[in-house]
Amino acid sequence: MTHSPPRIAILGTGHMGGAILGGLTRAAGAFGGIRVTTASAESARALAGRGVEARSLEEDSTANQWAVEGADIILLGVKPHHLLGLLEDVAPHAPESAVMVSIAAGITVAQMESLWPGALVRTMPNTPSQVGKGVTGLSAGSRVSTDQVRAVREVFETVGSVLVVEEDSLNALSTFSGSGPAFVYFFIERFMEVAREHGFTPEQATTMVQGTFAGAMELLESSGHTPEELREAVTSPGGTTQAALEVYRSADLSAIIRAASAAAIARAQEMAKG
Ligand SMILES: NC(=O)c1ccc[n+]([C@@H]2O[C@H](COP(=O)([O-])OP(=O)(O)OC[C@H]3O[C@@H](n4cnc5c(N)ncnc54)[C@H](OP(=O)(O)O)[C@@H]3O)[C@@H](O)[C@H]2O)c1
Repeated sequence: MTHSPPRIAILGTGHMGGAILGGLTRAAGAFGGIRVTTASAESARALAGRGVEARSLEEDSTANQWAVEGADIILLGVKPHHLLGLLEDVAPHAPESAVMVSIAAGITVAQMESLWPGALVRTMPNTPSQVGKGVTGLSAGSRVSTDQVRAVREVFETVGSVLVVEEDSLNALSTFSGSGPAFVYFFIERFMEVAREHGFTPEQATTMVQGTFAGAMELLESSGHTPEELREAVTSPGGTTQAALEVYRSADLSAIIRAASAAAIARAQEMAKG
């Protein structure tokens, strides 16, 4: 890395880019100047209000070139179908020493390295990054240094936890942490649905179900016990919880989770083929 603290550019600062920007600004001082870009002038104005230098393509067609000037870490925050075009556009203007960072699902390191001769890291963050409780899978490209991987890791640690994995494992990781929040919400929705069938109001169902998910997670994090130990503590032999757990077991919940994970991995592989 040429600068300490590293200078950051975020090209495409929407939901995920904005979440990471939030982490970077909270970690004030750990990072150098931050330049961000968006497509629309309206989005750039909103970001400028957060105290960073922001430009839009709508008002400045060279906004992305401006942002990468002198940057050490260049985060590509656009939608996957825009990513390779964006990389091709900015590659001639980015410092040779910069590390490009993709957060896009389904675009491989090889595809990106064919357009950018320098260092590259592929990541898969998740939506709880918006509240500083994200989980990001991070996979190093073939030309990135250990220092650069460490610096990129520090960027994502501002919004949660980071796992460094081989690229081959990123699709599998994504079925747990990347898509995982959707599965958690799906479970919450189903529990609330059934709670309403038992005559509870939507508000009561929300309190019971959301409160229980949130409380159970907090207890898991703070107690030092494993999920198994905490489950056993609620499950008296021959009791009501055990009767309900038998239903989950007989429906083979593990098989359902395994099949869902396999379906997501197969879809990611199809998408990578284009
Ligand atoms: N959201 C997630 O849960 C999640 C999780 C993991 C990974 N990701 C990845 O994150 C990436 C972004 O997703 P998102 O949900 O954050 O999308 P998003 O909210 O639509 O953000 C995209 C941003 O890119 C801007 N933009 C579009 N074209 C641009 C260009 N040529 N140059 C500069 N900025 C441009 C948009 O500007 P405007 O604001 O003006 O439209 C917007 O700020 C995707 O690759 C996705 O796979 C997302």
